[in-house]
Amino acid sequence: MIIQGQKDLKALLHIGSIVADCLQMMLSHVEPGISTAELDQMGGEFLKSRGAVSAPRLMYEFPGETCISINQEAAHGIPSKDRVLKEGDVVNIDVSAMKDHYFADTGGSKVIAPASNELKALCKACKRSLNRAIDAVKAGEKLNVIGKAIEKEAKKSGFKIIKNLCSHGVGRKLHEEPELIPGFFKADETRRLKENMVITIEPFLSTGTELVSDGKDGWALLNQVGSYSAQYEHSMVITKKKPIILTRPSSER
Ligand code: CO
Ligand code: CO
Repeated sequence: MIIQGQKDLKALLHIGSIVADCLQMMLSHVEPGISTAELDQMGGEFLKSRGAVSAPRLMYEFPGETCISINQEAAHGIPSKDRVLKEGDVVNIDVSAMKDHYFADTGGSKVIAPASNELKALCKACKRSLNRAIDAVKAGEKLNVIGKAIEKEAKKSGFKIIKNLCSHGVGRKLHEEPELIPGFFKADETRRLKENMVITIEPFLSTGTELVSDGKDGWALLNQVGSYSAQYEHSMVITKKKPIILTRPSSER
């Protein structure tokens, strides 16, 4: 969406803080022995207590309140009581929700200690690539400044970019125009960032996979066997200068 004034911005900041605080709360409970269903239930209760509704459930009838993807799963992992976290797992949690007809979307990753240096580096590089892309977006720039920044960071750190998972417009729906914003540099991109446009940036870096494939459960998107991935995501409003980040947790505001 393109925000029209303070009312839109205030409402987006509100739902943005709800999903951000929900994500931080859930990540703080990521530890060996907890199931992804338990984590998801905590997330669902948090959203409900703030008057928000899970966006993937609302928009796509996703069988969970949040997406929790472990190890081979890159995205859209279904929470399950049979998925119990253990040491060394890399966990991605994606929280998106709606309140008062406004949507925000955020995500983060964590490796459970003791973890391999490779997976710790993967998470750090992915977070850095998100920050570099945030530094690059400005009204008037082409949309490919996002992929360019992510690609630079991925190359520097030696990780791959998952090319068929994209950033997107957000605000009035979970996914809206501009759709399919690539996480890699696309030279022939013609679309441009506009002032007051609301988008997500969500790089997916991996230890080997460039294209995820559909899993058997109809939801989870999978890395190749033996490959792991991380994702970090913020929702933001594009301005002439730095974007306004909507999904900063309260602890960072
Ligand atoms: Co998301
Ligand atoms: Co998203």
